[in-house]
Formats: sequence, C-alpha cells, structure tokens
Amino acid sequence: MPNHPTQPEWSPDSWRALKAAQQPAYPDPAELEAAVTELASLPPLVTSWEVESLMQQIAEAQEGKRFLLQGGDCAETFDECRSPSIASKLKILLQMSLVLTHGSGKPVIRAGRFAGQYAKPRSEDTETRDGASLPAYRGDIVNAPDFTPQARRPDPWRMVQAHARSAITLNFIRSLVDGGFADLHHPEYWDLDFVQHSPLRDEYRRITREIGQSLRFMETLAGAPVHEMRRVDFFTSHEGLLLPSESAQTRRVPHKPGWWDLSTHLPWIGYRTAVPGEAHVEFFRGIRNPVGLKVGPGTTPQRLVELLAALNPSDEPGKIVLIHRFGAHEIAKGLPPLIAAVQAARRRVLWICDPMHGNTDRVTIPSGPQAGTQVKTRKFDHILAEVEQAFEIHGMKDSVMGGVHFELTGEEVTECTGGARGLSDEGLMAAYRSRVDPRLNYEQALEMALRIARRLGR
Ligand code: PEP
Ligand code: CO
Repeated sequence: MPNHPTQPEWSPDSWRALKAAQQPAYPDPAELEAAVTELASLPPLVTSWEVESLMQQIAEAQEGKRFLLQGGDCAETFDECRSPSIASKLKILLQMSLVLTHGSGKPVIRAGRFAGQYAKPRSEDTETRDGASLPAYRGDIVNAPDFTPQARRPDPWRMVQAHARSAITLNFIRSLVDGGFADLHHPEYWDLDFVQHSPLRDEYRRITREIGQSLRFMETLAGAPVHEMRRVDFFTSHEGLLLPSESAQTRRVPHKPGWWDLSTHLPWIGYRTAVPGEAHVEFFRGIRNPVGLKVGPGTTPQRLVELLAALNPSDEPGKIVLIHRFGAHEIAKGLPPLIAAVQAARRRVLWICDPMHGNTDRVTIPSGPQAGTQVKTRKFDHILAEVEQAFEIHGMKDSVMGGVHFELTGEEVTECTGGARGLSDEGLMAAYRSRVDPRLNYEQALEMALRIARRLGR
C-alpha cells in the first residue's frame, strides 16, 4: 500500500530505481539474489503488534507523556554476539531507564541499538594502505575489517548471517527480560563505586537511594517483586542502511494493510542517507514502522520539512522520531531553526538528542607503548553539554525534548574521556575496543543518566 495516494506507487523494491548512497558493490549479482531470496524466506525478527505497541508509546512520548532512551553500540560485530556483552548492555540500559524514570516522573521507552546494528556508513568507498586500495569496511553485515581482498569483498551471505546473529541476540534479550532481571531493579546491587569520585556524589547517592525506596514501596504495595509485576518492554532499533537487507525483511502480515520492516521495531535513516528523492527515503516512506531520522548541521529547515512530508504525509502520531546530532558547539545555532520549521509546518514528531555524533574528536595518544596512535574519542563534558543545551533550547521554543540516544556499552572500555573517574587521553588505550565510534562505558553511561535525571528533576 503506498503511504500516500498522490505519490508514485511504492513497493519494498521501488527504491531500486533511485540513487542509493552507502551501498556496497556486490561483485556477483546472482549470488546477491540468492542471498536476498534466502533472507526473504526466513521468519521475521519482530512482529507487527510489537511495532504497533512501540508506535503507540512514541505517540504518547510526542505528547510529553513518555521519554525515549535509545542506546547501544555504534556497531555490533559477529564476534561480540556473546552473553556477557549482551547482558551487560541490557543491564546498563535498564538501569539508565530506571534513573530517567525517576528523574522525569514518566515511563521510559527503551530501544536498544542491537539485534541488527551491523551496517556502517563510511566517508570513502575504498581504503588505501601503502598504495593498495580495497573496499572500505562497511560493518559485519557487508564484509570483514581485515585489510585483505578476501575480507573486504562484500559478501551478500553476510546478510543471512547477520539475521541469524540478530535472532540469537534477540532470543537472549527476550529471555533475560522475561525472567532474569530481578537484581537490576535494586540499586543496592549496582556498581556504584565510581560515585565516590564525583563532586556530585551526595546527589547521586540521594537519587539512587530514592529509586531503591520507591521500588521497594511498589513491591510492598503489590506484594510481589517488581519484575513479576510487569514485564519490561525492550525494543530494538538499528540504522536502516543496507537496503537489500531491509527490503528482504519487509513483509505483509495477515489482517492488516501495508508493509512492515520486521527486521527491527524502530529503523532509522542515517545522517548521510537522509536525502529526499533518493533510495533510503523512498524505502522508508512505505513501511508501517515508526522511523527515526538523523538531523544535524547539514539539514536545512526546508529539507527537513520535505523529508517529513515524504515520510509521514498524513502526520500519523508515533511515526517520526527526529534524532538531532549537532555537537555541543553547533546545537545552539542549528537546532532552533529546525524546531521552528517543524512547528510552522505543524508536524508531529518526537525530538530526541544524540549527543555523540557531533562530538567526535581525534586525539593522538601522548605516551606509553602506543604513543603516536590516532584514535577517535569523545569528551563526557561535551556529550553532557549538548544534552543540557538540548533541554534548554526545546524548553525555550515550547517544544518537547522527548528522549536521548547514546553510543554505550555495559563494559569497562576506555573510549570516551572524562566522567567521575576523569579518564584522560593517556588512559584511552587501556581498553579501547571499538572498531568504529567511541562509546560511553558502564560508569560513564550511568553517570550520564544521573546527570540527566538531575536536570529532568529540576
Ligand atoms: C550512528 O548512529 O552510528 C551514525 C553513523 O550516526 P549519524 O548517521 O548521525 O552520523
Ligand atoms: Co556511531
């Protein structure tokens, strides 16, 4: 069903006629077709009723009644489809959501960047080392990172492997959410040692004490442990970058009109592919899922209005999540005109802030065995400054700042600097593991949630 009667006919494959940015050049069309046919025949990862439930919750968030927390790795990898890393990611997201619920007084919608976050946009199609050029690494769903012709060859069967890894990840997440999460509802069991290093330790302690008290109060009222009172919802999200994979997982379902991208609940269009008239916008205008859209310094107000008209012509509630990612130094200039344009066009959206992608720095490791190595990093204070400005700006413009989007992990990596323990550039190589963007570690992510809760509670 076309999303809009006046627009040309849509189908899960109508994007193929248009310019598609950021796609790998698969060397063998027959192999690509075989892989896509296989992927299209496999059962979906999510269901249409889960997608509808998320959409309803996003509609409520648009009215200021819920807050959205979206977070996870910049890129998942096939290697890291492991129980400790999945469980710790879920744990930090749940803990952050409890902190944010406490701060905002609103239920928090949780969307992981997981169970499908395998495709990455790249600034160049090829990478050159010592005079040799190979296809860029585009994420495990496309090729492998080693710098050899074999590893870098785009392999369409990786889409089928990614589907399997996503299913394994999601199966584990669903089981944990259904049963094994009791302890996480109790801040007494959280790893809060870092708090003592912060000048805000008393406030952090007060917040976590209050969360513990209110959870115990709820349990007393219900006469049952919190985790038995209500199953917590976790939704999945990923950048809908690799279109052959998204379209192969787009299905009709019985008794409902339209098409559903059942690879995830909440796909988003990345900053580099949000171009009206091109393939990504064409594909995403036709599906029934809610759709995220990254906007930033290069998004003009006119383009944003055009994108919203294409993606949600009937202004359906719960349909659009606008994820702004300007950077702490750009947001004050860039965000107000976009808010004004959305208000003037009377468009219903959920605004959320991604304070990661506009705040990426490159630093040279100053000392130690890896002195001289260049790495990507982000400063805790820049990330926090962007979120705080986002609250200010939305407040001033009578708009709702309805959520946050982070790159984070539940593990003790050293990729972003700052936070209570004051990680410095010197400390970055201790446990720098990301192949792509730097993530907040467990403590930094929890501290970020505490800072936001403090801001929300004001
Ligand atoms: C991302 O979210 O990992 C990403 C690539 O972001 P953006 O499209 O905003 O640059
Ligand atoms: Co990223």
